[in-house]
Amino acid sequence: MPENNPDNVIWFVGAGPGDPELITVKGRALLDKADVLLYAGSLVNPVLVASSPAAEKVDSWGMHLDDMVALMADRVQKGKTIVRLHSGDPALYGSIVEQIAELEKLNITVRIVPGVSSVFAAAAALTTEFTPRGVSETLIITRPAGKTLEKDYIAELSKVPATMAFFLGSEHFFAITEKLECPKETPAAVIFHASWPDQQVIYGTVADIAQRAQAAGITKSALLIVGKAVKGTESGYQRSHLYS
Ligand SMILES: C[S@@+](CC[C@H](N)C(=O)[O-])C[C@H]1O[C@@H](n2cnc3c(N)ncnc32)[C@H](O)[C@@H]1O
Repeated sequence: MPENNPDNVIWFVGAGPGDPELITVKGRALLDKADVLLYAGSLVNPVLVASSPAAEKVDSWGMHLDDMVALMADRVQKGKTIVRLHSGDPALYGSIVEQIAELEKLNITVRIVPGVSSVFAAAAALTTEFTPRGVSETLIITRPAGKTLEKDYIAELSKVPATMAFFLGSEHFFAITEKLECPKETPAAVIFHASWPDQQVIYGTVADIAQRAQAAGITKSALLIVGKAVKGTESGYQRSHLYS
C-alpha cells in the first residue's frame, strides 16, 4: 500500500466556471498539494492549471476513459496525490460516474469537492436569480440532442413555468429555440465564457436569441438561459416573504 496515499483516494475537484478565484478553498488546497493534475480541457482556466505546483499535468481532452483510469490508477499505486479537475461543478455533464465506476473496480476511492457551476456564473453575469418570487419557482437544467445525445425533452420541459438553462447547446441555439413551446417573446440570454475576462452576454427573446448569438459569433462555451428571470429586476417579481 502506498505510503503517501494510504487510502487510495483520488480527488475530483470542481474548478469553477473560469475565474480562477471561483474555486473553493478546499479545491484550492488540493491543487496546492497535488502531484498529478488531470484537467478537463479548455473550460478549465489555464491560469488555474499553471498555479498548481503539480509535477505532472495532463489535459484529458480527447483521452479515452481507459487511458485516464490507467493513468490515475498507476499514480495512486505510486502514492501520488491526484486531482482530477473538472470545469464548473463535476456533477453537471462531467461524465464522472463512468470514471468512478472504473476506479472503484480497482479499489480506488473517489472523493468529490464541488465547484461553482457555470450556470451560477451565468446568473451572476445577468445580475439575477433563477427563482424570483412570482416569476419562477423552478430551474430546469438540460441539454439539446446532438452528436452525443439522441433525444431531448426540450418541447415537453418548456411547458413548465420555469427558468431553463441549456448546457452543451452553443451549436444548436436555432434547434433549441424552435423546439421551445413557451411564448416567442419569452426573454432569453446567451452567456459566453461566464466569469472569464472575455465574458459576453447577449440578450433577446426566444424568437431572436439564436440569431443574435450567431451575429455575435458565439459558437462554443456558452449557456442559453430562457425565462423571465433573465430580466432580473425587470422580471415582474413579487417581493419575497424573506425580507418583508
Ligand atoms: C461538459 S459541460 C461542463 C459543465 C460544467 N460541469 C459546469 O458545471 O459548468 C460544458 C458546457 O458547459 C457550459 N459552460 C462551461 N463553462 C462555461 C462558462 N464559463 N460560460 C458559459 N458556459 C459554460 C457550456 O455549455 C459548455 O458546452
